[in-house]
Amino acid sequence: MSRTLLKADSITKSFAGVHALNNVSFDLRESEVHALVGENGAGKSTLVKIMTGAAQADAGTLAISDRIVTHYDPGMARSLGIAAIYQQPSLFPHLSVAENIALALEGRSVWRKIDWRDRSRQAAHLIERIGVAIDPERLVATLTMPEQQIVEIAKAIGANAKILIMDEPTATLSEREIDRFFNLIGVLRDQGMGTVYISHRLEEISVIADRVTVLKDGKTVALRNVAEVNREELIRLMAGREVNTVFPKRPVRLGKTALEVRGLSNHANGIREISLSVRCGEILGLAGLVGSGRTQFAETVFGLSPADSGEILVHGRPVRITSPAKAIESGIGYVPEDRRRHGVILQMSIAANISLANLKAVSRWALLDGQKERELAQGYVNELRIKAPSIYGTAGSLSGGNQQKVALARWLAIGPSVLILDEPTQGIDVGSKSEIHDLMADLAERGLAIIMISSELLEILSMSDRIAVMHDGSISGILSRQEATQENLLALALGRDRCN
Ligand SMILES: Nc1ncnc2c1ncn2[C@@H]1O[C@H](COP(=O)(O)OP(=O)(O)OP(=O)(O)O)[C@@H](O)[C@H]1O
Ligand SMILES: [Mg+2]
Repeated sequence: MSRTLLKADSITKSFAGVHALNNVSFDLRESEVHALVGENGAGKSTLVKIMTGAAQADAGTLAISDRIVTHYDPGMARSLGIAAIYQQPSLFPHLSVAENIALALEGRSVWRKIDWRDRSRQAAHLIERIGVAIDPERLVATLTMPEQQIVEIAKAIGANAKILIMDEPTATLSEREIDRFFNLIGVLRDQGMGTVYISHRLEEISVIADRVTVLKDGKTVALRNVAEVNREELIRLMAGREVNTVFPKRPVRLGKTALEVRGLSNHANGIREISLSVRCGEILGLAGLVGSGRTQFAETVFGLSPADSGEILVHGRPVRITSPAKAIESGIGYVPEDRRRHGVILQMSIAANISLANLKAVSRWALLDGQKERELAQGYVNELRIKAPSIYGTAGSLSGGNQQKVALARWLAIGPSVLILDEPTQGIDVGSKSEIHDLMADLAERGLAIIMISSELLEILSMSDRIAVMHDGSISGILSRQEATQENLLALALGRDRCN
C-alpha cells in the first residue's frame, strides 16, 4: 500500500453563512491521481484553497505526510512540497517565462548569488520536458492562457513539488495539448507525485485518475475507484438527478444574413483576410487549435482590437466598429473566454453585473429601477441555474463556473442580434452545460445569429449548423453539417487544406 501524502479530515468551511464545505474528508496517496468532481459551486476550489493554505478551515484537520499542520499558509504549503495550478494562471506578466520558472527554483537561497543564465537553462530544460515549444525568453504577458498554464506546471516541477493540485488545468487546452499534458501527469505519477485533479470533463477522469471523490453542496457524496464507476453514475452522483448529456441540435429555419465580414484583417493581432457570414437562427461554430486566432477574430469584430482593413456588415449595412461601444450599438455581443479580463466585475453585485450592459432596460428617466434590475437578474439566475445565495452578493464570491454564467447572462440581457460566445461552457458542470446548450438552441430559434468558439470537438460538431475552421489567423475552410467530421475538422485546423 502506498504512502498517504495528504489527508484532510472532516473539513468545514463557511463564507458569510454559506456552507462551502461541510464535514469533508479527502486523502491523497503517493503515485496516484485523485480526481475531485462536482457541480459549479460544490466546494472543489474551496477544498483546494484549504489544502494549499490559501484559506483556513473553520473545523477539521489537515495532515501532510502524516503530520497534522497548524498555522498553515501558502508559504508553508510550498515548503511542504505542494504546488497548485489554478483555473487562472498566476504568473508575473512582465517577466519572461524563464524568470517566472526560475523564481520558483530553490526560492530560499536569497543570499546566494543567483546564476540567472543557469536558471534560464534549467527553465528551458523543464519546458522541454513538458514537451511544448515555448521560447523561455518570451514575456509571460504575450503568452496565451494554455501557454501560461504550461509555464505554471514547469514552475511546480521545478520547485520539486510532491503534491500537485490542479483546478481545471485543461479548461483552456486543446485536445492535442491535453494528450501531452496527460502524458506528463503519467510520468510524474511514475515518479511518485500525487495529483489532485479537478475537471468538468468527465471523460478525462477515466483516462487520468485512479480514484474520484464527488462533492455535492459542500458534502462528500462518493469516493470510488475510477475503474468501478462509469460516466453516467458520476453525473447522477454530482447532479442528484438524471441529466441529458447528448447535445440536441434542433433544426432551425435560417433567416437573412445577420453578420458578414469581408476580407477582415488586423495586423496587430494576426488576423488575415477573414471572410465569413452567419445568418439569423444559425449557430456558426468557430473551430481551430488554441492560438489559431479565434479569440483574436472575435476581439476584432467586437472592436476590442479594431480591424485595419476589410468590411463588417450587420443586416447588410456596413458598420465601422472601432470600439466595443460601437459593436454593442450595432447589435453585436461578445462573451469572452477569460471571465476575469472582460467578463464579470468581481467587486460588483451579481444583479449589477447582469444589468451592466443593458442599463436602458432597467432604468427609467436615467434612474436605475431597482425592481426591474431585480427581476432581470433573478430571471437569469433561475434560467441559468446560477448558484448564489443572493443576487446582491458580489460576483467575486461565486464559484468560477457561476461567474461564467453571470457573464453570459449579461449579454443575453442586452438582446443583441449577433452573439459571439468564446468557449461558452468551459468550466461549466455537465448539468448546466446541457442547459446552456438548450438556451443557445432557444436563442437561435428566436432568430439570434450565434458564433460559437469552442475547443471541444463534440460540442462544435453537435451544436453548429456550419463550422468555420481557423488556422494561423485565417480561415482554412468552412464545413457544412454533412461535411463536418472529426477528421475533416482536424485536418483543416492543422492547416492541411487543399492548397498545401
Ligand atoms: N470568498 C467567498 N465568499 C463567499 N462565498 C464564497 C467565497 N468563495 C466561495 N464561496 C461559495 O462557496 C461555494 C463553493 O464554491 P467553490 O468555488 O469551492 O465551488 P467549485 O466547486 O470550485 O465550483 P466551480 O466548478 O464553479 O469552480 C459556492 O457557493 C461559492 O459561492
Ligand atoms: Mg472552482
